[in-house]
Amino acid sequence: MRLLILSSAALLLPAIQAFSNNTNTTTALYKNPTASVDDRVADLMSRMTIEDKAAQLVQGDISNWVNTTNNDFNATGLAWNMYKRAGQFYVGYPISQQWISEGVRKGQEYLMQNTTLGIPAFVQSEGIHGFLIGNATIFNSPIAYACSWNTDLVKKMGAAIAQESLALGVNQIFGPLGDLARELRYGRLEETFGEDGFLAGEIGYSYIKGLQGGNVSAMVKHFAAFGVPEQGLNTGPVHGGERELRTTYLPSYKRQIIDGGAYSIMSAYSSYDGIPLVANHHILTEILREEWGYKYFVTSDAGGTDRLCKEFKMCETAPLDKEAITLYVSIPKENRISTESANEFQALPSGNDVEMGGGSYNFENIPDLVASGKLSLDVVDTAVSRQLRAKFDLGLFENPYLGAASNETGALIHTPENIALARQLDAESIVLLENHEQILPLSKTSNIAVIGPMAHGFMNYGDYVVNGSSARGVTPFDGIKAASSGAVTFAKGCERWSNDQSGYAEAVAAASAADVAVVVVGTWTRDQYELWQGLNATTGEHVDVSSLNLVGAMPHLVQAIIDTGKPTVVVFSSGKPITEAWISASASALVQQFYPSEEGGNALADILFGDINPSGKLSVGFPYDVGTTPIYYDYLNSGRTVDVGREYANGTLQFGHSYVLNDPRPLYEFGYGKSYSEFAYSKITLSKTNASPTDKITASIEITNNSTRDGTEVVQLYVRDVISSVVVPNIQLKGFSKVTIAAGETKSVEIPIDVGELGLWDVKMKYVVEPGDFVVFAGSSSKDLRTNVTLTVG
Ligand SMILES: *[C@@H]1O[C@H](CO)[C@@H](O)[C@H](O)[C@H]1NC(C)=O
Ligand SMILES: *[C@@H]1O[C@H](CO)[C@@H](O)[C@H](O)[C@H]1NC(C)=O
Ligand SMILES: *[C@@H]1O[C@H](CO)[C@@H](O)[C@H](O)[C@H]1NC(C)=O
Ligand SMILES: *[C@@H]1O[C@H](CO)[C@@H](O)[C@H](O)[C@H]1NC(C)=O
Ligand SMILES: *[C@@H]1O[C@H](CO)[C@@H](O)[C@H](O)[C@H]1NC(C)=O
Ligand SMILES: *[C@@H]1O[C@H](CO)[C@@H](O)[C@H](O)[C@H]1NC(C)=O
Ligand SMILES: *[C@@H]1O[C@H](CO)[C@@H](O)[C@H](O)[C@H]1NC(C)=O
Ligand SMILES: *[C@@H]1O[C@H](CO)[C@@H](O)[C@H](O)[C@H]1NC(C)=O
Ligand SMILES: *[C@@H]1O[C@H](CO)[C@@H](O)[C@H](O)[C@H]1NC(C)=O
Ligand SMILES: *[C@@H]1O[C@H](CO)[C@@H](O)[C@H](O)[C@H]1NC(C)=O
Ligand SMILES: *[C@@H]1O[C@H](CO)[C@@H](O)[C@H](O)[C@H]1NC(C)=O
Ligand SMILES: *[C@@H]1O[C@H](CO)[C@@H](O)[C@H](O)[C@H]1NC(C)=O
Repeated sequence: MRLLILSSAALLLPAIQAFSNNTNTTTALYKNPTASVDDRVADLMSRMTIEDKAAQLVQGDISNWVNTTNNDFNATGLAWNMYKRAGQFYVGYPISQQWISEGVRKGQEYLMQNTTLGIPAFVQSEGIHGFLIGNATIFNSPIAYACSWNTDLVKKMGAAIAQESLALGVNQIFGPLGDLARELRYGRLEETFGEDGFLAGEIGYSYIKGLQGGNVSAMVKHFAAFGVPEQGLNTGPVHGGERELRTTYLPSYKRQIIDGGAYSIMSAYSSYDGIPLVANHHILTEILREEWGYKYFVTSDAGGTDRLCKEFKMCETAPLDKEAITLYVSIPKENRISTESANEFQALPSGNDVEMGGGSYNFENIPDLVASGKLSLDVVDTAVSRQLRAKFDLGLFENPYLGAASNETGALIHTPENIALARQLDAESIVLLENHEQILPLSKTSNIAVIGPMAHGFMNYGDYVVNGSSARGVTPFDGIKAASSGAVTFAKGCERWSNDQSGYAEAVAAASAADVAVVVVGTWTRDQYELWQGLNATTGEHVDVSSLNLVGAMPHLVQAIIDTGKPTVVVFSSGKPITEAWISASASALVQQFYPSEEGGNALADILFGDINPSGKLSVGFPYDVGTTPIYYDYLNSGRTVDVGREYANGTLQFGHSYVLNDPRPLYEFGYGKSYSEFAYSKITLSKTNASPTDKITASIEITNNSTRDGTEVVQLYVRDVISSVVVPNIQLKGFSKVTIAAGETKSVEIPIDVGELGLWDVKMKYVVEPGDFVVFAGSSSKDLRTNVTLTVG
């Protein structure tokens, strides 16, 4: 969701008395915590008017009763909001914690005390890498913490976000994402957990367990197959068929939604194979509810329903056909296959239960549509029940407000524990790409020139941070200076948004005077406020690129520093892969730090000086060039023919065919990342080499830290289906384990394999684990497969 200015100017205040009836509900069944949730839902539903029901299905907004400029309270606005838009309300404003806390409490208290039925609301905000409020803990971006492959730390982060959100009474967070990083031009890549559905599923699952364990509902987004738009352009159409949907896109969402037990889902802005997700009966109902058995609710994204008419051109826009959006009745009757099938393309009947704000509040017409017989009450009841079930299961009726006193939220937000967690997670997410001649780790007594526009002066956070955040946090220069006992200098060298090279001389002088240079360059985005003001940026929501190269003066700055002859450590501080392969070859070392946490500079120093041995592994592969994408490791069999050509720096052309002048393989593949240690793998063994599709088996392997430094390895398990009846991915990640091993020691690692997860979607689109051989590989990346064993499924 993006931040939008909401307007209620044209709306009249209806008679509040119409809201529910005056029955005393104190002893009602739905208020009895020992009754079954099904019975409680049914009892409550029986007491609700159609207005009560419609109000559950429309998102409200705290700005209807809290003036976000001066904190004036609008009692009429509160009553009006809760009459029309009571199910959930949004509070993600860049205002003081106290204002939010007081406003949220007023909202919930009004619902509990001033309405007959007392249905508490979901209180919603953002939090994909930290709760979106000033002074809350900012964690590194999702694409970054996915590189930690550390599910325990991610779960702790989820719990920390819950604690900070709940302190202000916020009980629902718009995250995590099940979307995959398979279209690198796309600006929101940084919000994903990388290119692979298994890893994204595990990271998201852990986030949800942490968040919901802290009494805050997750909202898995953007369901489904979002993030791979045509041309990489935000909200563009997604192409693919049923098999690709099921094989590649759905697993990450399913792991998060079903296994993680997420209480809510946000539908995607995009269309898939020509059907908008907001009205996609096949995905939202046939798959999500009928196949997966999901019991809770789906909401649209901000303004997402209006897109049916405006962007998708499926109904009139002047005036906006609000009825069609809720109902989609504009299909001429004669073009309908049957009345029933036409229903499949209506937003609400499709399975999108709730409408988020940011658009035209089309769902407010539900009472009229039911009264006129155009909308079935059953459809409305189904949607409302799904949302109520989530509220009952989360415990909202018993504890509608778990916030702290508004003057005491500080003790729960931005705690020393959460700040330390941010640093640890960030350090474990940093990926060492190159370390020529073991230049790293650096000595703490070295004199270091810290150079580059991302090295100091602002925090290079990913998108979805609150307005003003970039002024707060530990920069690379701050972190290196704090850890070093040598002389540490800073020179910016250039602006990130400019071709101006006039700062090079100062930077070159700084490098020349030092023992080693650390140059920090990359991409940048903006906070939630600046992003939508249209300020320049190279990543983030609605900021998409046609090239993955460094922009402006940055690449030449790197060259100028390398040319000084001083050992040069280049750090990419970015939200996506950067394609400057020459830097890999010519810098002394190359470090990837995807958008950092507020402790980013300290985490970077932990890695550069070796206080923490690098253990991050890429959640997304790096191509040589945008023209060689997509670059994901799990390409289908028959893909990725290799006949490399290249253009040498001296101008010599060497022609290949795949590609003529480039390499179709990744420069750095998914799962890649170096350590200061060396790990040796023993031969992999299986608890059973002949298994049935219902078996759960164990792969075992011994890993030796064959170095003099304690280290941590991410052992990755990939599986190849040797012969299959349809075309399947060449290999797929099916397990991993992150293990810390002392210098010279050996550890046994056991990774479970559910044989039932090795299936494919056959020619009749049935899921089947086909009999035959599967090669199980253990390795240090998706390319560095060290050992294998054959599993025969019978
Ligand atoms: C509602 O009923 C309960 C229990 O019967 C009673 O204690 C309470 O006073 C009643 N409230 C009102 C407002 O009548
Ligand atoms: C008022 O509540 C009672 C249950 O106590 C229910 O039977 C009745 O239908 C409700 N009235 C309306 C108008 O919904
Ligand atoms: C909020 O307060 C400001 C400053 O007093 C005022 O200009 C603005 O109109 C108010 N906003 C609303 C929605 O009433
Ligand atoms: C809620 O009810 C209380 C007590 O009846 C009343 O004082 C208060 O004004 C009401 N609040 C709103 C916003 O209507
Ligand atoms: C209070 O809210 C009502 C209902 O939305 C609105 O008509 C009115 O303009 C608001 N008043 C202020 C001062 O914002
Ligand atoms: C954050 O902290 C600063 C300094 O204590 C304070 O001025 C500011 O109001 C706080 N921001 C929020 C959103 O609470
Ligand atoms: C969650 O709520 C339950 C009560 O429903 C409470 O016992 C528990 O302490 C809460 N946990 C947190 C982390 O707030
Ligand atoms: C918050 O306010 C309460 C009641 O006014 C008071 O007892 C408490 O000491 C205050 N807490 C802080 C941290 O100021
Ligand atoms: C980029 O944005 C910054 C403000 O953050 C502004 O100072 C600068 O002039 C802009 N540069 C260009 C080239 O747009
Ligand atoms: C250019 O570089 C390539 C690769 O290093 C080398 O094979 C070739 O001989 C060079 N050509 C010339 C003209 O120096
Ligand atoms: C461990 O390192 C030593 C020294 O480099 C080497 O001789 C040995 O083969 C290595 N062992 C393994 C299992 O890689
Ligand atoms: C499996 O490992 C053996 C060496 O142990 C190797 O010869 C073989 O090529 C590997 N199989 C595959 C499919 O990579």
